[in-house]
Amino acid sequence: MKEHHISTKFTIFDNQSELSPEENDLLNQAIQARDKAYAPYSSFSVGAAVLLDTNQVFLGNNQENAAYPSGVCAERVAIWSAMATIPNGKIKQIFISARSGKTSVNRPIAPCGACRQAIAEYETRQDENIEIFFTGEIGKIVKAYSIKDLLPWMFDNSMLS
Ligand code: THU
Repeated sequence: MKEHHISTKFTIFDNQSELSPEENDLLNQAIQARDKAYAPYSSFSVGAAVLLDTNQVFLGNNQENAAYPSGVCAERVAIWSAMATIPNGKIKQIFISARSGKTSVNRPIAPCGACRQAIAEYETRQDENIEIFFTGEIGKIVKAYSIKDLLPWMFDNSMLS
């Protein structure tokens, strides 16, 4: 019997001014997408911007539904929009911002488990890390360097064979 530890790497930025101009622009695009979310049930709006290695950017926001589980998160809307348009596209970075109509979201909001699994699928396929930046409405921004930093012990297609 042996105890093991997994460490994950991330960087925390105090605010947007610490990002590079390119990263800042991509986060602003995620914020703009966030503010077009359809979130009448939760009042929690999320936006995502996906940067491909072609420099194309795909945006998404959460789309809720009266039948609650039929709604989809911002991240998957953006990722699937990118992959539907550019099959085999390679994702370099994903930017995520969240705000609430009920309270000030002043801490980083990490992608949900289902969205992490969706990101894992494409990181595994492209065999190159995807950087994930996530934040709230104000405050710090977290940068993870790979989905493995957010989803240790992830399930992937190697386990199917
Ligand atoms: N949501 C996202 O869009 N992304 C996440 O990673 C977490 C949650 C959305 C889903 C739902 O519309 C609302 O936020 C509240 O859970």
